[in-house]
Amino acid sequence: MITENVRSIANLLKTGGVAGIPTETVYGLAASIENERALKRVFEIKERPFFDPLIVHIPYVNTARTLVKDWPEVAEILAEAFWPGPLTIVLEKSEQVNSLITSGLSSVGIRMPRHPICLELLRTLGVALAAPSANKFGRVSPTSALHVEAEFGGNFPVLDGGPCEVGVESTVVRPTAEALEILRPGLVSEQNLYELFKRQGIEMEIRRVQSQASPGHLDQHYQPKVPLFILGEGDDIETIRARAKLASEGEEIILGDDPLIAARMLYSLMRDLSERSSFIWVRRPGIQKGTAWDAIWDRLNRASSKS
Ligand code: TXA
Ligand code: MG
Repeated sequence: MITENVRSIANLLKTGGVAGIPTETVYGLAASIENERALKRVFEIKERPFFDPLIVHIPYVNTARTLVKDWPEVAEILAEAFWPGPLTIVLEKSEQVNSLITSGLSSVGIRMPRHPICLELLRTLGVALAAPSANKFGRVSPTSALHVEAEFGGNFPVLDGGPCEVGVESTVVRPTAEALEILRPGLVSEQNLYELFKRQGIEMEIRRVQSQASPGHLDQHYQPKVPLFILGEGDDIETIRARAKLASEGEEIILGDDPLIAARMLYSLMRDLSERSSFIWVRRPGIQKGTAWDAIWDRLNRASSKS
C-alpha cells in the first residue's frame, strides 16, 4: 500500500511496525530505534546480513547528542553546515543505541534528512528511525514509492514523498583523531567538506577510505537486474558485446552533463532500462570528478559487471 498519511505511518512505526519512508536521497525501510522486533524485521525483509549497520534518522540536531558518547566540535560544525541534509556522521554510540542497529560496532551512523515529509514523520513520531535503503541487500536503491513496492510487493506500507531530489545515498563520514574519513561519497562532496573546514579554520585532513564496516563499499553492490558495462574511452559497445557474448543491443544509460540531474536520474534509469534489455551500459566520458560525480561513479563502478 502506498499512502500519503503521515499520521497512520507514525502510528504504525510507534507500535512496532515497519514502513517505507521517503528521504531526499533514496527511500528507506524504517523501524523505531526503540523496537527490537521491528529492527530485526528490517534485516529480514531486506535479506540484509546482520554485519551491515543501519543509519539512524533524527528529527532534530539535538537528538544526535543523546545517541552518542561524545559530540565533538567537528560534528557540531558538520551538522550546522549540512543538516538537515544528505550527510551521515559516524560517532561512538551511547548506551541508548541498540547494538542490533550498529551490528555490534561501537559507533553509530546518524543523519537528519531534509525531505519535508520525512521530517514531519520524525517529528510526529518523536523517536529516531533506523532505516537502510529500501531495497534487497546489494541491489539498486529506490528513488520512488513505486520502486519500493515493486521490490517488496506490498509487504509493508510506503509513505509517498514523490521522487527523491538527490537520488544517491548520503555521504558517510567518520571523524577520527587524525582525519575526517569519507566512508561513502555522496552529494556532500570532498570539496564541500574541504571548503567548510577552510572557512572555519579547522586543520583536519580529509581522507577517502575503504571501510570494511561499510558494505556500501563491497566491490559488488547497487546491482541492477541485468549486467551493467562501463565503456571507457576507446571502447566500443560491439567489442563489449562480443566479449560478453551478448545477443541483444543493450540499453545505454545517458547521464548528461549536469551531475545533480545525473544523480537524481541514475537509479531509476538503471531500473527502467534493466526491464527492457538483457544488459545496460554507460559511457565514461574521460574524467568526471567532484560534486556528485564521485558518488555517481562510485555507484556505477560497484554496480558494473566485472567481466
Ligand atoms: O542516504 C542514505 O544514507 C539512505 C537513506 C535511507 O537515509 N540510507 C542508506 O542506508 O543508504 P544503507 O543501509 O543502505 O547504507 C548505510 C551505509 C552502509 O554502508 C553502512 O555500513 C554505513 O552506512 N554505516 C552505518 N553505520 C555505520 C557505522 N557505525 N560505521 C561505518 N559505517 C556505517
Ligand atoms: Mg543501501
